Amino acid sequence: MRVLSGIQPTGRPHWGNYFGAIRQYIQLQGNEQSFYFIANLHALTTVRDREKLEQATIDMALDILALGLDPDQATLFVQSDVPEISELCWILMTGTGMGLLERCVSYKDKKDKGLKADAGLFTYPVLQAADILGYDSDVVPVGQDQVQHIEVTRDIAQSFNHQFGEVFVLPKPKVLDDSAKVPGTDGEKMSKSYGNIIELFEPPKQARKKIMRIVTDSRAMEDPKEPETDHLFQLFSLFAEPEPLQEMADLYRTGGFGYGHVKKALADASEAYFAEAHQRRAELVANPDRVKQILGDGAQVARKKAREVLTRAQEASGISSWH
Ligand code: TYM
Repeated sequence: MRVLSGIQPTGRPHWGNYFGAIRQYIQLQGNEQSFYFIANLHALTTVRDREKLEQATIDMALDILALGLDPDQATLFVQSDVPEISELCWILMTGTGMGLLERCVSYKDKKDKGLKADAGLFTYPVLQAADILGYDSDVVPVGQDQVQHIEVTRDIAQSFNHQFGEVFVLPKPKVLDDSAKVPGTDGEKMSKSYGNIIELFEPPKQARKKIMRIVTDSRAMEDPKEPETDHLFQLFSLFAEPEPLQEMADLYRTGGFGYGHVKKALADASEAYFAEAHQRRAELVANPDRVKQILGDGAQVARKKAREVLTRAQEASGISSWH
């Protein structure tokens, strides 16, 4: 069984990326074949600055390794190092209905807001389908917002298989119940484009400031509150051990506390939670050649698999090698 997932280097990873996706990458490594990549070709649809994109790509690799991805147990690579995927993307583009892509949220959201979208954004889900199908992936660990893209991938695969025979494996998304949609500092889904993120590697002081500014309602201190529907509690629950979590839930139900109390507990818990990763990152930064080597080795392994799947798709559709 193969596990595969990707993350865009559009900035530094935030709590949503970690609890929705990266934590799963790490949990799933080792016992299966695991492929994880940095989706720099997808990021090119928004990051239009060479230096920024290059820096974000290497930073993302460092961040994921610091968080516990072990190159001996999983293959880590950069999307553009596997050109076979772009070739496969073209093959999949033929036969993908315009209507299917018009319904995809990333394009639709932009268009609905009256913003100009380019062909890259429009065909973004097809490249994602190539990413997934190109490695015979069975399971794709992601947050809720990516489920639509995996459904599109399945549609594309099924339609190709129907026309040309059983070439592609049909993948399934893997979404965690408790962190499918991590809220941001305003209670909406945490997302870079909403400006409501807290990054994993932010200096603790700065993260603390953002935590203290998390939007809450204005109910009086003495009012009992429901933990289940409170985004601040939801964030706290990502970091807290069962016992302090239960204590906090009880406190919510009895009332008599201020949200400042919860925010402080959240700041302490999150700082402690990522302290080891901060430490590991500092060690990795001191050894940049090691990271480049990990990405180079990863690309080789990934290319081998992608070449095999691309050849299968080419042969099935009548465009195999003519020389
Ligand atoms: P991206 O870079 O936006 O996000 C990376 C991962 O983080 C998850 N995520 C969240 N999970 C829970 N709560 C949140 N608030 C939250 N915000 C982000 C995302 O669901 C994702 O799993 N198109 C993809 C990248 C990609 C990809 C792929 C993923 C390219 N090819 C192939 C899987 C398979 C994206 O933009 O993710």
